[in-house]
Amino acid sequence: MNWEEELKTLIRARYPIIWLTSSEEQRVIQKLSEITTDLEKTFYVWSATKGIQKLTADLEDVDPGAVSIDSSLMAFTELINQEKAVMLMKDIHPFIQEPLTIRMFKDIYFELKNSYSTLILLAPITDIPIDLQKYVTVIDIPLPEKEELRKILEVMVKDVNEALNLNIELNGNTDTILNAGLGLTLDEFENVLAKSIVAKRNLDPSTIITEKEQIIKKTGILEYYHSMESMEDIGGLENLKSWLMRRKKAFSREAREFGLRPPKGILMVGAPGTGKSLTAKATAKLFGMPLLKLDMSKVFGSLVGESEKNMAEALKIAESIAPCILFVDEIEKAFAGISSSGETDSGVTARVIGQLLTWMQERQKPVFVVATCNDPFKLPPEMTRAGRFDDIFHVDLPSRSEREEIFRIHLNKIGRDPGNFDISEFARLTEGYSGAEIEQIITEALYRAFDEGLELDNQHIIEEIQGYMPLSKKRKDEIERIRKWAEIYCKPASIRDSESGSKARRIEL
Ligand SMILES: Nc1ncnc2c1ncn2[C@@H]1O[C@H](COP(=O)(O)OP(=O)(O)O)[C@@H](O)[C@H]1O
Ligand SMILES: [Mg+2]
Repeated sequence: MNWEEELKTLIRARYPIIWLTSSEEQRVIQKLSEITTDLEKTFYVWSATKGIQKLTADLEDVDPGAVSIDSSLMAFTELINQEKAVMLMKDIHPFIQEPLTIRMFKDIYFELKNSYSTLILLAPITDIPIDLQKYVTVIDIPLPEKEELRKILEVMVKDVNEALNLNIELNGNTDTILNAGLGLTLDEFENVLAKSIVAKRNLDPSTIITEKEQIIKKTGILEYYHSMESMEDIGGLENLKSWLMRRKKAFSREAREFGLRPPKGILMVGAPGTGKSLTAKATAKLFGMPLLKLDMSKVFGSLVGESEKNMAEALKIAESIAPCILFVDEIEKAFAGISSSGETDSGVTARVIGQLLTWMQERQKPVFVVATCNDPFKLPPEMTRAGRFDDIFHVDLPSRSEREEIFRIHLNKIGRDPGNFDISEFARLTEGYSGAEIEQIITEALYRAFDEGLELDNQHIIEEIQGYMPLSKKRKDEIERIRKWAEIYCKPASIRDSESGSKARRIEL
C-alpha cells in the first residue's frame, strides 16, 4: 500500500491521531484535500502563526482567536461535535513536548475515538513523546516516486506550451527526466523544470541532473559523487573485489527471483591510505549506480531537532534515488561524542546514530551502504552487530605482491611503462607502506626527476623510498591493535602472501 492509500484507510478506519513525517507541506495538504473531499469531511489546517483555518478553495479563517495549541485543540473538540472533520497541524514537533500539551492530546484522542474526525500531525521528523506513542500512528512519507513526478511533468509541459507558446516535446526524454527528478520534493522538481525551461526554452535532462545535484548538495550532508575510479585502479584486495563482484550480481532481477535479498552493504576497516575510500568509489562504477556521499560530521546541526531532520532527509533522498550507493566515509567520526553524548548534547548524537542503525536494519529500498573506518575502537558495538552490514572487511597494509601491483597502477597513471622499472625491488623495500604512501613516493620521485631534467628511473624511486618514514612505523602498536580486533570481527580484504613471497593462499569466504 502506498502512503496515500494508507492515510485514507487510517482516516476511514477512524484512527484518532496520525503523525505524518514529511517536509513537503503542500504535497500533504493537496493529498489531504483530495481525501477529505472524497470522504466528505471538512478540512482544517492549523499553524502556529495562523491558528485554525478551514481549507476551502481559499483558506478561510474559522476562529482567528484559536492560535495557541490549547485553545485550538479546544476549538477542534467543539467542531468535531458538529461535523466530520480532519485537522492538519503543521510543524508540530517543537510544541508537543510539554507535559500539559501531552495531556491535552491524550484528552482529544478519546474525544476523537468517538467521532468521525481525525487529527493529523505533520513534522519533518518523527519525534513523538514516549507518553503519546501509543496514541499516535505514524506514516513516514517518502519522496515522490516517478508516477507522481510524471503528473507534474505532464501538467507543466502542457501549461508552458499554452502560456508561452512554446513547443516543448518530451519525445524519448521522459524517463531520463523523471529519473533525474528522483530524490527531489515535488516543489523542487517543479522549480528544476521551470529553470530548465527559462534557461533553455526546453526540458534539458543534463540541466535537470545538474540542478538536482545542486539541490542535494544544499542539504549540506549529502553529495552526489561522480565516480571515475574503477576496480582496475585498485591494487590487491582480491577477496574484497571478488566479494563485490558477486554482490553486484545479487542486485539483478534474476537474483531477486532466485530468492536473494538486495545486499545491504559493507564496512571496511583499516589503516589510513589503504584504499578504502578508493574501493567505495570504484564500487559505484562496478555496480553502475550513483554514489551519494554522506558526511557524518555535517549531520549535526546547532538547532533543536536539526540533526535528526538532516539525517531523516538524507536517508529519504537515498531511498528515493535507489538503487544507489550510500558512501559513509570514516563513519567513526560521527561517534566522537557518543559516550558523553548524554551530557554534552542531550543525546542527539546517540539518537542520530540510532536513526541510521535502525534504518540500516529496516530499509526496504536497494541502498547499498559502503562505510569506511580508520579506527574500529571508536565504533559502538551496535555498529558491528550482525544484520547491519553483510560483511566487515579488514583492509590491511598491502602485501608484497599487492605493493607490486600498486606500483604498476600508479606508474601507468603517470604514463610510464612499469616494465622499465624494478618493481619487485620497490616492493621489497616498501614493507609497511600504504597504497597512498606508494602513490606519494611516485609523485615525489617524478617531481625530482623533472627538477633534474632527467627521465624518471629506478634510482629516483628508490631514493624516495629510503627517505620516507611510513605511518605504520610511527603507529606500530595501533596497527597491531587493529589487526587483533580484525581477526575477530572481519574478513581479510586481501589474499595474504608472506613477506618472503611464497605462493598466495586463497582464503575461503
Ligand atoms: N590498494 C590500492 N591500490 C591503488 N591505489 C591505492 C591503494 N590504496 C591506496 N591507494 C592510493 O591512495 C589514495 C588514498 O587512498 P584512500 O582510498 O583514500 O585510503 P583510505 O580511505 O583507506 O584512507 C587512493 O586514491 C589511491 O590513489
Ligand atoms: Mg578514506
